Parts: sequence; structure tokens; C-alpha cells
Amino acid sequence: MTQVAIKTPPTRVATLSVECVTALEEDDLQALCEATNAAILDGGGFGWINPPGQQVLERYFRGVLLVPERDLLIGRADGLIAGSAQLVRQPRNNEAQAHGATLMHSFVAPYARGNGLARLMMIKAEEKARALGYKVLNLDVRETQQAAIALFESLAYHRWGEHPAYARVKGKLVRGFFYTKMLK
Ligand SMILES: CC(C)(COP(=O)(O)OP(=O)(O)OC[C@H]1O[C@@H](n2cnc3c(N)ncnc32)[C@H](O)[C@@H]1OP(=O)(O)O)[C@@H](O)C(=O)NCCC(=O)NCCS
Repeated sequence: MTQVAIKTPPTRVATLSVECVTALEEDDLQALCEATNAAILDGGGFGWINPPGQQVLERYFRGVLLVPERDLLIGRADGLIAGSAQLVRQPRNNEAQAHGATLMHSFVAPYARGNGLARLMMIKAEEKARALGYKVLNLDVRETQQAAIALFESLAYHRWGEHPAYARVKGKLVRGFFYTKMLK
């Protein structure tokens, strides 16, 4: 089945919230998968190039909740899940880098963008990382994700490196940028 991205103008939302979850109700899981699907269709930087389908996404997020090294943050716009991010720790053997966590797979569904949800998710992710004792937060992004780059740089993330063949999208290599921030 061919899936088509439906572009809608930004919707104004009244309330935003972000929480770190260890379980998801069925309707929340559905909303998270729909948001993810919409972000992938939009070219969203979530690793997937083609939407894998609802069942795969459901299994994926159920799996994320089981991984001890991952914390799943979800962002809600007017109560509905519209974005997420993952805070990822080093495996236990990596004591030398145990002071750092990586923020991965952050996105907001196209229909909820422009309302400040991604900024709130970043702030909450940093708070969570600090609360867990991390001193450094790392992240990386395709050079084509201009909105995300603007967001990270506005939050004082320092670009320390580039990868010339970071991703391959529709047969084309895309550069990637690596960022870090010392958590005070
Ligand atoms: C990047 C992304 C998460 C931003 O989500 P959002 O909820 O619309 O962002 P916010 O409304 O919180 O805006 C936060 C900041 O992002 C930047 N930003 C957001 N949209 C932008 C745009 N269209 N152009 C340039 N900068 C933009 C701005 O710095 C903005 O701050 P400001 O409002 O003070 O100007 C969203 O566009 C997205 O999911 N993109 C695809 C996935 C992705 O790139 N993920 C990150 C790397 S994995």
C-alpha cells in the first residue's frame, strides 16, 4: 500500500506537557505510532526512511520500554502524544563514558510543530539527565534537519564534529553533525 504524507498548516495548541514513561496505555501507544509515522513521512530524521507500518512501530516502542539503558520521553499537545525522544545511557561496561548520555530520535509530528513542544522536550530531557547524574548530553543530527539544528544551537549545544557519510537517504549520502553540551 502506498502511503502519502498529508500536509496541514500548524495547529495552535493550548497545553504542552512532557513526561518520562515506563509504560503506555493502548491509546497512547497508537497516538505515538501515528505521530512517528507522520514524522517519517515528512522526512523526519527518526532513522526510518520508509514508514514500517503500525505493527512494527508498536513492537518497536514496546521494545524501547523494555531496554534498561533507554528512557522514553513523550510530548503531548493538548493531551495527545505528538512527539517523543529517548535518553540513552552507555552500556554498563563503559565506565569511562558513564558520565554522558545521548539524546536520540527526538521528533514532533508535523501537525503539532511550531508550538514549542520540541523545546520543552529538550528542557525536560536535560532535567532528567541531570537528575540521573549525567554531566554531558550528546546528540547527532543530519545536516538537512535545519529546524532541529536551530533548536540545538539555541540551547547552547556545541558542534564538535561532522561525519561526511552519516546517513544515506534515497540513495544520497547526507552529512551529519555531532553536538555536545556540558550539563551544569
Ligand atoms: C526539530 C523539531 C523536533 C522541532 O519541533 P517543534 O515542536 O516544531 O519545535 P519548537 O516549536 O519547540 O521550536 C523550537 C525551536 O526549533 C527551531 N525551529 C523550529 N521550527 C523551525 C523551522 N521551521 N525553521 C527553523 N527553526 C525552527 C527554532 O529554533 C525554535 O525556536 P523558536 O521558536 O524560539 O524560534 C521538528 O521539526 C521535527 O520533528 N523535525 C524532524 C525530526 C528531527 O529533525 N529530529 C531531530 C533530530 S533526530
